[in-house]
Amino acid sequence: MAYLGHQVRGFDVDKQRAASLSKGVLPIYEPGLQELFSLSRTNLTFGSDPAVAIRDADVIFITVGTPSLPDGRPDLQYIDSAAEMVGKHLTQSTAVIVNKSTIPIGTNRRVEEIIRKAYRRSKPEAEERFAVAYNPEFLRQGSAIHDTLYPDRIVLGSNNAQALEKLKAVYGSIIDQTFEAPAFLPRTETLHRVPVVATDLASAEIIKYAANAFLALKISFANELAQLTERVNADISQVIHGMGLDQRIQHQFLQAGLGWGGSCFGKDTAALVSIGQQHGVDMRIVRAARDVNYLQRERVVAKLTQELGTLEGKVVGLLGVAFKPHTDDIRDAPALDIARRLLARGATVRAHDPAALQRARLECQGSGVQFCESVDMLAHRAHALVLVTEWPQYQSLPWERLASAMRYPFILDGRNALNRETLEWAGFHYLGVGRADRPSTQPPVPSLRAVRRNPITVRETEFGRLRSFDELLTQPSPVPG
Ligand code: UGA
Repeated sequence: MAYLGHQVRGFDVDKQRAASLSKGVLPIYEPGLQELFSLSRTNLTFGSDPAVAIRDADVIFITVGTPSLPDGRPDLQYIDSAAEMVGKHLTQSTAVIVNKSTIPIGTNRRVEEIIRKAYRRSKPEAEERFAVAYNPEFLRQGSAIHDTLYPDRIVLGSNNAQALEKLKAVYGSIIDQTFEAPAFLPRTETLHRVPVVATDLASAEIIKYAANAFLALKISFANELAQLTERVNADISQVIHGMGLDQRIQHQFLQAGLGWGGSCFGKDTAALVSIGQQHGVDMRIVRAARDVNYLQRERVVAKLTQELGTLEGKVVGLLGVAFKPHTDDIRDAPALDIARRLLARGATVRAHDPAALQRARLECQGSGVQFCESVDMLAHRAHALVLVTEWPQYQSLPWERLASAMRYPFILDGRNALNRETLEWAGFHYLGVGRADRPSTQPPVPSLRAVRRNPITVRETEFGRLRSFDELLTQPSPVPG
């Protein structure tokens, strides 16, 4: 908003966060955000006094979190306290209060009620012409700036026509694409106008859940198919390619792998199931999508167990902790869930991430996971690596060095993102998701169980001698690096 030319005052209850934002220190890693922030500083202030932020604002965005309660319903306490604060401090009677947080159907009415009561309490004589709107967020972490400046659509929900007009004006330069595109993120030549869906409050509330649930179930559909393609020696990537060329299907969000993570899909699908229940509708498809998703994590454990015989005493290195590349967000990250499952079965778990290590160390203290600064530390005398997050950096790792540092060079490509041939040439036994377990150009590297059954197995590879498991156990690998 500040970049577009609006005067923006940011308020946070966390004084420290507001103070560091004032100094230009961002609390999260998001590509391009620091640059955009620097370009917008003249229009942007932060503080921890709600009165300063709220009182005469024309438009107030509520952007607080709505985390899941144990039963799947979203926790609305932060929304409620923000609404209370807005009602108390608002002096601009024609303000539009816009909710951006993802909230169950009907919650915006409740927000309006809370604001109204607090407004009346603090200003019994004042006129009340403010309106409430819902403006669901569709940005993806990791491409947040792109999705904000060049969105597929803007959804505006309100039962007040003037509020809708005001919001269209706020978003005017995005809708018409008349703002100056930042140099680091140019506009695609084909984008001239962004569609606006102006609707009632309840429809806008459902659009948000429906969009996330549909994307989530596309992913789960691909993952369920991947189980089948594995069994029949087919390749899920080719199946998806063939399917996705149908213009009605498309390829996006059909990438099979370890399933979705993050703060949105899990929470929003759980909320949709719970909202359905409250209204007597069994959201069977959404429930199934969730089941398939979480099964993918257990399947990693099953594949490792099948390969290594047992996980007790084995060292497993996870490549990637963030729930997706280009973010340091580890909320509902598949890596942490997989780590928990492996630790419970007696494995030693190490993890590496290009951006999320610091956060993971802080938030996962006492978890038992060993966070490693380098991939060499991760691979040193490990029995298996699992690619959990498809960071581009992982495409070109020193695979030969890593394979020879491991006790047993097995890699499970949980995102089908690595080049199988490269890995196999480097000496790895490669396994993907939804792909047959067969080497592309070489005879298969014996599985750990096979090697254990035959301890004298020694094989010459392009890059040297692959040592037997017993040898590997008794002779330390060279120190990495
Ligand atoms: C998601 C939606 O894509 C956004 O439109 C929405 O605004 C956001 O939630 C939200 O509700 O705030 P986000 O969770 O940031 O965005 O990231 P996604 O790109 O959707 O990825 C979610 C998860 O799905 C990641 O773990 C990713 O690895 C996984 N994924 C994605 C797959 O497993 N396969 C795919 O084909 C695509």
